[in-house]
Amino acid sequence: MKQYNVGIIGATGMVGQRFATLLENHPWFNVKVLAASPRSAGQTYQQAVGNRWKMTTPIPEKMKDMILLDATADIEKISSQVDFCFCAVDMKKDEIKALEEAYAKAECPIVSNNSAHRFTPDVPMVVPEINPDHLDIIPAQRKRLGTKKGFIAVKSNCSIQSYVPALHPLMKFGITEVLACTYQAISGAGKTFETWSEMIDNLIPYIGGEEEKSEQEPLKVWGNIVGDEIVKAETPSITTQCLRVPVSDGHTAAVFVRFKNKPSKEEILELWKNFKGVPQELNLPSAPKQFIHYFEENDRPQAKLDRNLENGMAVSTGRLREDTQYDYKFVCLSHNTLRGAAGGGVLLAELLAKKGYFD
Ligand SMILES: NC(=O)c1ccc[n+]([C@@H]2O[C@H](COP(=O)([O-])OP(=O)(O)OC[C@H]3O[C@@H](n4cnc5c(N)ncnc54)[C@H](OP(=O)(O)O)[C@@H]3O)[C@@H](O)[C@H]2O)c1
Repeated sequence: MKQYNVGIIGATGMVGQRFATLLENHPWFNVKVLAASPRSAGQTYQQAVGNRWKMTTPIPEKMKDMILLDATADIEKISSQVDFCFCAVDMKKDEIKALEEAYAKAECPIVSNNSAHRFTPDVPMVVPEINPDHLDIIPAQRKRLGTKKGFIAVKSNCSIQSYVPALHPLMKFGITEVLACTYQAISGAGKTFETWSEMIDNLIPYIGGEEEKSEQEPLKVWGNIVGDEIVKAETPSITTQCLRVPVSDGHTAAVFVRFKNKPSKEEILELWKNFKGVPQELNLPSAPKQFIHYFEENDRPQAKLDRNLENGMAVSTGRLREDTQYDYKFVCLSHNTLRGAAGGGVLLAELLAKKGYFD
């Protein structure tokens, strides 16, 4: 497989640090450029990150002394050195939209973890096992942007990363209604217990903007390309409540689901067990071998025990049973900064690379 030079924009942040560690020994992607805000630019990665390093493994040796560039002022310089960039920055939504488009127009494809472009109609929002066909919209986006190579592709929000994979293979039974309550880790807010001590022994019943994302994003993922746009699916009807819980990593969801044609429990378990997507077929380096793992034990999946399954790229489910109001209920879990953020971004980039979108 061809080698690609890549950049990480927002390299000093929580998601950026995950990208750095995931890409340290990546078989296809070689980190050539690290960029962040003007506050960090000009410093080495180690200096700029300082005591903000939040990963359990040390700063990658080969990135320690790389000099950070300014993500906005150095767009041309960065774009000329890489085949594409990952982007995860904490900026205003309109600033992120403009920044990502500027990279695309400088012919540098962007694989983004930010929410800014998730509802831009010609920007694919891809969970590689579920809607890899949405990459077919990229030529239309390039036409709008006036680019030959540049485009933006995004990954979905971390909250939907557990229940959408579990629901997807069941779509053939006609899912009509979904109720999901998510119990989300503090790393989803870029925090640790050291930096957010108020979360120790606490639960906060509100995460700004999260319920709207959790209800709307699945409909784009399940949508269809019509002309030059991805048109959202009209069903199922989804309602959510998203809570912040005192867990370091791993978002759990408690899900209730109603079908047009109710399947048997055995059918659901069989579909979960056999669910394979394009990443498994193509044997992409970050793809989990088994995407959905079902636990028979009543007290699983647990965030602490199961979030790192298959390098944090698999989804775990458990407690599938019939419900008195809906047809079924179950619990699911995914690692929010791995599958839900940087790992999902790397898998999407692997799919794009394999399909030739960076060439
Ligand atoms: N954490 C998660 O689990 C998660 C999951 C999915 C998506 N996301 C999304 O990923 C993005 C980053 O999240 P995070 O948790 O990594 O945030 P974070 O830890 O606060 O990091 C923010 C990053 O943005 C950079 N930045 C801030 N202002 C900038 C500017 N004006 N120009 C260029 N870079 C700038 C920071 O650089 P400096 O260090 O120089 O300030 C830092 O690298 C957000 O859009 C978030 O919604 C996060």
